[in-house]
Amino acid sequence: MPIITTPNGQMTSRYSFGTMQWGLQADAREARALYDACREVDINHFDTANLYCGGKSEELLGIFSSNEREDLIVATKVGYDGGAGRENLLVQFDKSRMRLGMDMVDVLYLHRFDPETPIKETLETFAMLRDEGKIRFFGLSNFAAWQAVHAIHEACHFDLAISMMQPMYSLVKRQAEVEILPMCAEMDIKVVSYSPLGGGLLTGKYAVGGTGRLSENDRYATRYGQNYMHDAAKGLMQLGQDIGVHPATLAVAWVGRHWSNPIPIISARTVSQLNPSLAALDLDMDDELYTQLSKLTPAPPPATDRIEET
Ligand SMILES: NC(=O)c1ccc[n+]([C@@H]2O[C@H](COP(=O)([O-])OP(=O)(O)OC[C@H]3O[C@@H](n4cnc5c(N)ncnc54)[C@H](OP(=O)(O)O)[C@@H]3O)[C@@H](O)[C@H]2O)c1
Repeated sequence: MPIITTPNGQMTSRYSFGTMQWGLQADAREARALYDACREVDINHFDTANLYCGGKSEELLGIFSSNEREDLIVATKVGYDGGAGRENLLVQFDKSRMRLGMDMVDVLYLHRFDPETPIKETLETFAMLRDEGKIRFFGLSNFAAWQAVHAIHEACHFDLAISMMQPMYSLVKRQAEVEILPMCAEMDIKVVSYSPLGGGLLTGKYAVGGTGRLSENDRYATRYGQNYMHDAAKGLMQLGQDIGVHPATLAVAWVGRHWSNPIPIISARTVSQLNPSLAALDLDMDDELYTQLSKLTPAPPPATDRIEET
């Protein structure tokens, strides 16, 4: 497994914090409080993207981290829009570095697969940024396993390691279990997975008439619109009540409990929302509880169909 460290050599924390809402849903004051709450429990890994909140997220992260830069892993992403061609990546990354106020970022992800651009061009660009000392680690987000394997193969031409992958992964989005998580474990790639609460669904709030991203954003309403997902959220809430643990704590801990040891990227709009996710750091989830939670949703079918022969 690649050793993902801060510039001064500290290991990555077990969780990352995602700043996707900083500057919009969480204003600068709330964002600062979220940052401080993470630092209090030694979270040293922060995730942003060129795309988030029109650049506000990167700006705020740059301000908050400026006096302890060497103690942090700062990850950003380029290429969500405009494709994965060289020019677009370089323009976006320069903007990111400017907003962050950093010559170097620790992790730079390609935000999503671009079928239009030859992967060699993309990888050569990231290798150049690595050679120039502008990035320390390179990662891929929202890639299928076959796309990643192709990239890994081509990256050898540039002596470029793919150190991390960033898939979606939660109790209600389990596709990564089939290929991404085992592939990464086998190929020494660290998984830093996003949306452990299913965009908030797994807090249980929608089952009791609550509001939030799923009621405010059509894209998320569709992403988490299936009945079985909402049933799972209710089941999780019930289980949480039975054992006296917040459902969000269970949901986050469940992600981190996968045998491949992914790093969940937790997030919230406010510190009071964040606390149950932080509590997952202290939850010791035994095998029985892990199995109980895993049964709330169907495990995705395996990657090969010949499952009758074990
Ligand atoms: N690579 C990618 O394509 C990609 C995509 C998405 C995210 N990410 C990264 O992953 C990070 C986390 O993703 P995410 O925000 O989707 O994570 P998530 O954990 O699935 O959802 C977090 C949201 O759930 C709600 N929530 C959290 N705790 C709550 C509580 N105690 N009570 C009620 N509601 C609560 C809040 O939204 P509401 O208050 O609005 O309901 C909060 O913003 C992002 O910040 C970003 O860095 C990456």
